[in-house]
Amino acid sequence: MNENIIPHSFQVARTDREKLMGQKGCLLWFTGLSGSGKSTIANQVELRLFELGVHTYLLDGDNVRSGLNGDLGFTDQDRIENIRRIAEVANLMVDAGLVVLASFVSPFISDRQKVRETIGEDRFVEIYVNTPLEECERRDVKGLYAKARDGKIPNFTGIDSPYEAPIKPEIELQTMGSSVEESAREVTDYLASFMKQ
Ligand code: ADX
Repeated sequence: MNENIIPHSFQVARTDREKLMGQKGCLLWFTGLSGSGKSTIANQVELRLFELGVHTYLLDGDNVRSGLNGDLGFTDQDRIENIRRIAEVANLMVDAGLVVLASFVSPFISDRQKVRETIGEDRFVEIYVNTPLEECERRDVKGLYAKARDGKIPNFTGIDSPYEAPIKPEIELQTMGSSVEESAREVTDYLASFMKQ
């Protein structure tokens, strides 16, 4: 940080905001291959939380990449910068007291570790949406795997760009054989006990 930038100490703190909102800010980080079901499950989790009266916000790869990160592509460097910016934005939202859901491929362990450090261990929940590549490719909801196999999308995760699976995520969702509702419930059940801590 520039030595001439001195953070101001504001009188309304996170704890005050959280008290007002009656909740604890945290970040639910969904990681997994493209087409693994991250956004679908995150959407279902947000819907449940909304119905329970929890204040949330959902950040999603395709949305953020059309705005804030519209200047970034899919090289390793750009993905690192993508995740770094998202971590900073999510951190502000968590500081505001929100339950933030973030759905990004985020293929690198080191980047996800940095997000964890930015947010703080006690407010970060890593959720591995574990769907085998063969299944993501079979579904190919957006038709991107076919294009990648055709050589029309360079650096496609799982094809010619790596995905480093989480080693010890807080939650691992095996989506094969589970419904979206069942996966979402695993997350909300975890969150219910997490919120009490
Ligand atoms: S990340 O790797 O930087 O975390 P992010 O989650 O923001 O990726 O964006 C992934 C989405 O962009 C995918 O769901 C897919 O729709 C689209 N996409 C386009 N090109 C690629 C690519 N080369 N690799 C992965 N996803 C891509």
